[in-house]
Amino acid sequence: MKDLTPKQIVAELDKYIIGQAGAKRAVAVAVRNRWRRQQLPESLRQDIWPKNIIMSGPTGVGKTEIARRLASLTGAPFIKVEATKYTEVGYHGRDVESMIRDLVDSAVSLVRDEMTEQVKEPAEKQVEERLLDYLLPQSDTIASPNLEDDDTKARRQRNRDKLREQLRNGELEDRTIEINVEEKSTVVGVLGQAGMEMDIEFQNMFEKMLPSRRQTRRVTVAEARRILFTQEADKLIDKNKITAEAIRRVEQSGIVFLDEIDKITAVESRHGPDVSRQGVQRDLLPIVEGSTVITKYGPVRTDHILFIAAGAFHTSKPSDLMPELQGRFPIRVELQDLTKDDFVRILREPQNALTKQTIALLATEGVQIEFTDDAIDAMAQLAYDVNRRTQNIGARRLYTIVEKVFEELGFQAPDIAPTKVVINAGYVREKLADIAADEDLSKFIL
Ligand SMILES: Nc1ncnc2c1ncn2[C@@H]1O[C@H](COP(=O)(O)OP(=O)(O)OP(=O)(O)O)[C@@H](O)[C@H]1O
Ligand SMILES: [Mg+2]
Repeated sequence: MKDLTPKQIVAELDKYIIGQAGAKRAVAVAVRNRWRRQQLPESLRQDIWPKNIIMSGPTGVGKTEIARRLASLTGAPFIKVEATKYTEVGYHGRDVESMIRDLVDSAVSLVRDEMTEQVKEPAEKQVEERLLDYLLPQSDTIASPNLEDDDTKARRQRNRDKLREQLRNGELEDRTIEINVEEKSTVVGVLGQAGMEMDIEFQNMFEKMLPSRRQTRRVTVAEARRILFTQEADKLIDKNKITAEAIRRVEQSGIVFLDEIDKITAVESRHGPDVSRQGVQRDLLPIVEGSTVITKYGPVRTDHILFIAAGAFHTSKPSDLMPELQGRFPIRVELQDLTKDDFVRILREPQNALTKQTIALLATEGVQIEFTDDAIDAMAQLAYDVNRRTQNIGARRLYTIVEKVFEELGFQAPDIAPTKVVINAGYVREKLADIAADEDLSKFIL
């Protein structure tokens, strides 16, 4: 696990998300606390539970975005799931425990990648030998290897050395060879969605019954290298070690981001309690409180997994969740509605800012784009106004605005290139003024 300090985590998040300092701090501290706990002696460590977080706030202000960015920077097993995906046990749909199984899956591939990296060198050596075996005609040796005279042996060795050199120089990459590959069928591969929803025990049993097909495939050397590398690396890696390490990491530092949690609150006043939603909460509780989930890699304790929940809570409040569940999420942070100035910054600053993307995309056509400050201002102002007058969808409004501004240019770009276009406030208004002024129109178009 990368041990970033809270400040460093916030700095990383700042690269993509504007504002929302409170939420960033809360997640940064929560993530850091996992590391702090690891530093303690076993006896203390056991009793320190993660402080789960609920992030609430209007739609389109960065809740999910924070989760997505956090995922790539913690280095800990992390998954983001939508609470709406789950249904109560016994109903059609995915059971809540499957989120832990998914978390373990992602940890396993994380650890496998790391271990593969460690055996890269010896595995690549093996791959080279096997590629040479495939490339050299074998027939004459197989018949009577012992009877080969020294001359033939020397000649073979010379051939092999020559091939090795060509291989290393990348001269043989496109040559085709025949290799053996073993393809193991998976339940999901065979049954699709139905396989995915199958009980995990059953899935395992089923998978054991499926045949693994040995196939001879004609592939290029380049592709063969990839396939053989997986095979050779697999031989060098201790599978039990992977799963043990993956489970350890999930139990000690796993993070589940539970998005759309507001959508599983049952609003009793309207239709009476919603059975399935209440059920999801009920099923969720033991996992958040700490229980054992059976996965195909073995049992996993969930006591120390960190849960970060998020939801817009438009029509409901965190207090509409089951009391037990509320108690398990002691840290509450509210994300702020975005101001016009935030929009200006969102258009310009993040590493993936819409203006940067547009500039890069059109540059591929030879059209150079320049935004003036007042153009950015105009777009931000329009987004803000339309959000106020119609529905507030937060920063998502910027997507439709930018899209509309560039609709025509996007179409014509190849015909007018190479050229330079300056986007100023006048240009923006020309493209948007009529639509923005008309409330009905903006509902449909922006
Ligand atoms: N504070 C922000 N800084 C930069 N970009 C933002 C910010 N807030 C939102 N965005 C942009 O708007 C898009 C939608 O935001 P996001 O998915 O985080 O919304 P949300 O808060 O999860 O809303 P919902 O409650 O509807 O799920 C993001 O993809 C991101 O590009
Ligand atoms: Mg969201």
